[in-house]
Amino acid sequence: MTSTLGTLCALAALFPAITTSIPLIPRYISENEILAAYDYVVIGGGTSGLTVANRLSEDSSKTVLVIESGPIDDGSDSFKIPYLGRGYLNYGTKYDWNVTSVPSESLGNRTMIIPQARVLGGTSSINGMQFARGAPSDYDAWEELGNEGWNFKSLEEYFKKSENFTAPSEKLSEEFGITYDESAHGFAGFIHSSFPRFLWPQIKNWVGAMKSLGHTVSQDPANGGALQLFWSPSSLDPDTETRSFAREYYDGAQDRPNFHVLLDTTVTKLLTFGNETIRIDAVEFLSSAGATKKSVKVKKEAVLAAGTIFSPQILQVSGIGPASLLKSLGIKVVVDLPGVGANLQGHVYLYNAYQLTNVSLSAANLTTNTTFYNEMYELYKTKRDGPFTNTGSNIIAMLPLSDIGLDNFQNLTSAPSEPFPHSDTSISKGYRAQLKVLLRHLATTSMAGVELSWINEVGGTIFSVMHPLSRGTVTTASSSLLTNSTPTVNTRYLTHPLDTRISIETFKYNRKIAATGEMQVLGPVEVSPGPGVSTDEQFEKVIKEGPNYMYHMTGTCSMMKRELGGVVDTELRVYGVQNLRVVDASVQPLIPAAHLQTTVYAVAERAADLIKAGSAWRE
Ligand SMILES: Cc1cc2nc3c(=O)[nH]c(=O)nc-3n(C[C@H](O)[C@H](O)[C@H](O)COP(=O)(O)OP(=O)(O)OC[C@H]3O[C@@H](n4cnc5c(N)ncnc54)[C@H](O)[C@@H]3O)c2cc1C
Ligand SMILES: *[C@@H]1O[C@H](CO)[C@@H](O)[C@H](O)[C@H]1NC(C)=O
Ligand SMILES: *[C@@H]1O[C@H](CO)[C@@H](O)[C@H](O)[C@H]1NC(C)=O
Ligand SMILES: *[C@@H]1O[C@H](CO)[C@@H](O)[C@H](O)[C@H]1NC(C)=O
Ligand SMILES: *[C@@H]1O[C@H](CO)[C@@H](O)[C@H](O)[C@H]1NC(C)=O
Ligand SMILES: *[C@@H]1O[C@H](CO)[C@@H](O)[C@H](O)[C@H]1NC(C)=O
Ligand SMILES: *[C@@H]1O[C@H](CO)[C@@H](O)[C@H](O)[C@H]1NC(C)=O
Ligand SMILES: *[C@@H]1O[C@H](CO)[C@@H](O)[C@H](O)[C@H]1NC(C)=O
Ligand SMILES: *[C@@H]1O[C@H](CO)[C@@H](O)[C@H](O)[C@H]1NC(C)=O
Repeated sequence: MTSTLGTLCALAALFPAITTSIPLIPRYISENEILAAYDYVVIGGGTSGLTVANRLSEDSSKTVLVIESGPIDDGSDSFKIPYLGRGYLNYGTKYDWNVTSVPSESLGNRTMIIPQARVLGGTSSINGMQFARGAPSDYDAWEELGNEGWNFKSLEEYFKKSENFTAPSEKLSEEFGITYDESAHGFAGFIHSSFPRFLWPQIKNWVGAMKSLGHTVSQDPANGGALQLFWSPSSLDPDTETRSFAREYYDGAQDRPNFHVLLDTTVTKLLTFGNETIRIDAVEFLSSAGATKKSVKVKKEAVLAAGTIFSPQILQVSGIGPASLLKSLGIKVVVDLPGVGANLQGHVYLYNAYQLTNVSLSAANLTTNTTFYNEMYELYKTKRDGPFTNTGSNIIAMLPLSDIGLDNFQNLTSAPSEPFPHSDTSISKGYRAQLKVLLRHLATTSMAGVELSWINEVGGTIFSVMHPLSRGTVTTASSSLLTNSTPTVNTRYLTHPLDTRISIETFKYNRKIAATGEMQVLGPVEVSPGPGVSTDEQFEKVIKEGPNYMYHMTGTCSMMKRELGGVVDTELRVYGVQNLRVVDASVQPLIPAAHLQTTVYAVAERAADLIKAGSAWRE
């Protein structure tokens, strides 16, 4: 209530003439109320955008506008309750951009669904809430690619800054053997990280199985231990057992009179100025209700935070991208930047599912017994306890390739030498540089090649190649954007044979896990892909026909040297433009072996510091 009043007063001060027409919940402003110019215009009110906007608006002398294409969430169970809210209920709704990739030849011409939230808070509003950092090698690899100053050590303070960690209860840690290292965590950040109050008992069997196969449990993924087996917290408020997400960066700043948010409004173009030295003069937008494009002036910087799929689309329609693409669409080339929309990487999850026939309480009870479901829902509503607090994956194994029996993976005689068809040498050079760094690390035990995560609903694991060598593309489908324009996404998943090989070996490894004594007491009966699948050829068919979703996309505005096909420099500034940065997941040049949100928050926190330090102006 106080914050609502605070905002009302603030707005009244800014817009004295229209005070009477301001609605009673002025949490965000309407199109008629925006200022003519802002110091910073943030494009996309998602995970990274709200992080940066909050930090920039800490300085009350600077005005900040966020333009978000989606609405504010309605606070319903599908956002809030962990068991219900793991994204799935929001796929294909008005809170999702509903992106489908084009048929990929490497997948037998199948398409993939790419969930991308369209709501204040972005994809953090619908994601799986898994909240662990990658291993040091994942970030050190960025520096080895030529990004000086970007490594695990230098990101630590920003991982901490975004986080508010709550240790698991003594009872829970003792029962499950959860360990943690408080010194590696933050305690004053906006995003809660904690463990759900309820964990399914079968987790113990899986941990036992993994240990019997020689895997050790790391103390904490936050302190560099995101390798082998580890306990991962969730982005979960420990008091209410509800989702903690980027909306909290907005909630924490909504009292500030210098912070404005425009919802249901889509950025359609960055208006550039000059020719030798290009700068962003204004940002053009279109409200979902209105039919006329308008624009707002940028005094200092434009901050692109529309995510891995949409940031390259916005750059391309604004004339910043591969000249050949832009010319083919009749877009005037402002900066020829071949890397915009290139280097797309993502995690595609496969699963090995079992029916557990010798258990007295498992996730299956929720789906087969309505009485039980209702009781557990009631337990959650009244006591914030039970299976509805569970986010699904709190125990993770990040395994090096040698651990799944892939020791000779460097034999890649049939691998393509180019990431995708293109006509620019910087793309070839960049891809080769990435392969060199990745293949060196993947031959060691300090970089994970694959993730296995025990999911009770699966009665087994979901797993994914963590450092895919396949590269996809994002290209705008037309020369201008409207409110529902989505780009052409070609995932090209499995174009590199190592990605397929890793998936085949992991399927086999899952069978080994299921065969351990610790798992056998649960009476597992394989349901997917099923006992009929056993040869490499059969597994390969399952892999090509199986994955339907791509998650955790990065790379389409990569931080890399320009001669390697990079889009932004180490201060996240777009090459060839004076006052434009990209701060979202798209700048991560190599996807880490982690679910992405901790990294997205950390990079965005650091971006805010870079912007505040005033390094905007390129000579
Ligand atoms: C289904 C799913 C599950 C995931 N699960 C996990 C998980 O469990 N743990 C984890 O760590 N990570 C997870 N991730 C990854 C993580 O959530 C994302 O990487 C991260 O949220 C991306 O942040 P972002 O800022 O790059 O983009 P987003 O958070 O997606 O923000 C982009 C915002 O820009 C807006 N936008 C786009 N175009 C325009 C435009 N033209 N004008 C105005 N606004 C625009 C969008 O509407 C959106 O709100 C998951 C991802 C997906 C897709
Ligand atoms: C999402 O896309 C699919 C495939 O293109 C389409 O069938 C479906 O109707 C779309 N859903 C919404 C809500 O627009
Ligand atoms: C995929 O589509 C291409 C182009 O339409 C076609 O040439 C090819 O035969 C198709 N492949 C499969 C496996 O269907
Ligand atoms: C961190 O989270 C705890 C638990 O919800 C809360 O009590 C505390 O106030 C939070 N700290 C900050 C700085 O927000
Ligand atoms: C930039 O402006 C100069 C001087 O007006 C002109 O000669 C040149 O062709 C322009 N360059 C581009 C790329 O438009
Ligand atoms: C869960 O399901 C199993 C198998 O049907 C059953 O034996 C068990 O009693 C159920 N447990 C609860 C708590 O309902
Ligand atoms: C269904 O759940 C109820 C409530 O927990 C329990 O009493 C009942 O035995 C369960 N039925 C089965 C078939 O497991
Ligand atoms: C590498 O692959 C080729 C072609 O499949 C095969 O002939 C060769 O034996 C392999 N070498 C090693 C070291 O596995
Ligand atoms: C079934 O589970 C019980 C309880 O864990 C165990 O004692 C028993 O040995 C299991 N049965 C089989 C056949 O493994």
